[in-house]
Amino acid sequence: MQDWDVIEEVGGTKAMQRLMSRFYDRLFDDVMIGFFFVNSDKEALIRSQIDYVHAHLGGRHGDYSGPSIRRAHAELPILAGHFDRRHQILREVLEEFDVPERVQKAWLQLDRSMRSMVLKQGKDVRQQS
Ligand code: HEM
Repeated sequence: MQDWDVIEEVGGTKAMQRLMSRFYDRLFDDVMIGFFFVNSDKEALIRSQIDYVHAHLGGRHGDYSGPSIRRAHAELPILAGHFDRRHQILREVLEEFDVPERVQKAWLQLDRSMRSMVLKQGKDVRQQS
């Protein structure tokens, strides 16, 4: 049983806000995937993502009240390379903020487990190519 709290593990509320701001700054500015975010509210995404990881990692503290991950991405044409790029940026940001090893591992694992929920698959992808 993992009973840690991800916000405590990264160094508290302020540190988590800095980490997530850095993550979204990098996503919004990225040449490969930044275009997905042109109409998004960065501050709202930062808040939502903090709630999400808080409610799904370690001892699952806090509360996430946003849409399901599948639903949040249903209209976005996200392909494997886009997913992998976001995942790599997350990996780099967790490293940059010295997040403890076991927390990084659980965080990246949670992220990867949602791959099939955010990717456009099957008919949708074939129709695009
Ligand atoms: C497993 C990985 C992912 C997780 C856990 C995740 C999580 C989330 C969450 C919690 C939201 C906000 C929902 C809300 O409060 O409205 C969101 C929205 C969004 N995500 Fe992801 N996401 C993932 C992968 C991706 C990928 C790979 C992309 C694109 C490369 C992406 C692009 C977006 C965009 C553009 C929005 C905003 C949609 C809007 O503004 O309405 N996400 N994501």
